[in-house]
Amino acid sequence: MLGTATRVGANPDVLGTPIIDASDLEIGDGFRVWSAHRQTLISGPGRIRIGNNCFVNAGAIIYSELAVTLGNDVALANEVYVMDTPSHGIEGRNPEAKPVVIGDGTWVGARAIVLPGVTIGRRVAVGAGAVVTKDVPDDVLVAGNPARVVRPLTYPPLCRRAWHDIYCPCPGSLLGPPLESP
Ligand SMILES: CC(C)(COP(=O)(O)OP(=O)(O)OC[C@H]1O[C@@H](n2cnc3c(N)ncnc32)[C@H](O)[C@@H]1OP(=O)(O)O)[C@@H](O)C(=O)NCCC(=O)NCCS
Repeated sequence: MLGTATRVGANPDVLGTPIIDASDLEIGDGFRVWSAHRQTLISGPGRIRIGNNCFVNAGAIIYSELAVTLGNDVALANEVYVMDTPSHGIEGRNPEAKPVVIGDGTWVGARAIVLPGVTIGRRVAVGAGAVVTKDVPDDVLVAGNPARVVRPLTYPPLCRRAWHDIYCPCPGSLLGPPLESP
């Protein structure tokens, strides 16, 4: 179900039938990919690296001609589009692929678009529908088109993810240490 991936870590979880035909793809442990009402696509001739405990939701697209890197604990919500190439140039210019990096623990909200050349920091929350055109620092909420920093985010100790749920490894959650841990 994980198509052309040359490395897939432990315990992948695939819902539905994503199209995964990227030619240079490595995936870490605990990968969850859903492909439901919209088919999920991970494709292209570029180098795609997906870290541990990442989640790609239904209808998301990752397309790479150069390099797309997702760190650990990254979530892409429904119909997020991550691309490292514009595919077509304008004004007679050739399209230029530029690498995309999404940092550890970052959550990209539904239908957001991450454009070529963007590096998003760690534990960033990208609002639904954002168009990320420029680099984003760590630990902020960005939203809008073009995406702008809305506010800084603060996290409890040991919290690794911007996308909190019962499976988050935060203290006190189902998978996390008890709350009294340091
Ligand atoms: C980003 C998000 C988490 C922010 O939630 P929040 O902390 O409660 O933020 P607030 O509602 O306090 O909003 C803060 C400001 O950002 C704006 N804002 C929030 N989300 C926005 C978005 N997606 N696009 C544009 N502006 C947004 C608000 O209007 C508000 O602006 P104001 O200060 O001028 O009034 C939430 O709005 C969001 O987009 N979640 C994504 C949900 C999703 O995609 N789920 C997918 C399921 S896997």
